[in-house]
Amino acid sequence: MIDLRSDTVTKPTPGMLAAMAAAEVGDEQVREDPTTNELQRRMAELLGQEAALFFPTATMANQAALRVLSRPGCKVVAEERTHVLIYEWGGPAIHAGLVMQGLAAEAGRPTPEQIEELDEFGPGSVLVLENTHRSSGGRVWPLEEFRGAVEAARFRGAAVHLDGARLFNAAIAAGIEPSAWGALADTVTVCFSKGLGCPFGAILAGPAETIERAWEGKFLFGGALRQSGIAAAAMLYALDHHAERLADDHARARRLAEGIGIDPATVATNFVSIPNEPGLRERLVERGVGVGDLRPGWLRAVTHLDVGDNDIEQAIERMQEVVHVHA
Ligand SMILES: Cc1ncc(COP(=O)(O)O)c(C=O)c1O
Repeated sequence: MIDLRSDTVTKPTPGMLAAMAAAEVGDEQVREDPTTNELQRRMAELLGQEAALFFPTATMANQAALRVLSRPGCKVVAEERTHVLIYEWGGPAIHAGLVMQGLAAEAGRPTPEQIEELDEFGPGSVLVLENTHRSSGGRVWPLEEFRGAVEAARFRGAAVHLDGARLFNAAIAAGIEPSAWGALADTVTVCFSKGLGCPFGAILAGPAETIERAWEGKFLFGGALRQSGIAAAAMLYALDHHAERLADDHARARRLAEGIGIDPATVATNFVSIPNEPGLRERLVERGVGVGDLRPGWLRAVTHLDVGDNDIEQAIERMQEVVHVHA
């Protein structure tokens, strides 16, 4: 099976496992895990923020961020198919008492005008921007558009959280530093169990005082670990060995698109968006290719660390027989 369902399916490499085995560890809950502390220091810098905090998952990091940035009864607003709104089990309503509002927006990117026109959106509310945007097919926010959305939210007195689960993909694709987007938001999540290839782990970065308060959510959600350095070592390894290579995933996604008759210009990062038809996924599975859901009417093929050039050429051969793209 060539598994293109998601970039979350990767297995730790021997090098990553060796780094985990050799990790220097301590008790994270009393902030004595040196490897976690080093990861947090490096990530704060990479994201252009004062401080960073390790979380087991990006979902937990997002939820902890919403808790610190908001007040119960206020709103979380995001493009309507953003992860925090539809894939986190209503977390913003349950954990932070927020009213959840989705906006229809091209490429997952709400415009300043849409933000200016929102009702009941001000201090205590949060705008969530996702980069890359999953459901639009791994699209990247152009920096100036992102800045425009952030400024519109700030003008309303609301906070801004960046769900940068795949921010490194965006940075590699755009050729700019993750901090370019990161420094503009109040808080930023980055996930390490996607293109970066870790078994789990995420980071939340923000101002020191905000991150200090995010500890509360981390404890509350059961995310304060003990020897978290085992995970942090994998994450540091990924920063050193798996960030630059995301460019290979992007090139392979473009090659795959081209090979199956999809315009490679629609591929911004490591997702290929495939128009769905009844039974298509099953026909692909029969031929040994796994694809995932993107949004209603669309499937995705996602390239990642465990998919090489030969896999892509084989996937093209198998997919060509069943994927029919009508221009
Ligand atoms: C955009 C986005 N944010 C957050 C998450 C949550 O990541 P995790 O599985 O680490 O909770 C995902 C996972 O698919 C995602 O795609």
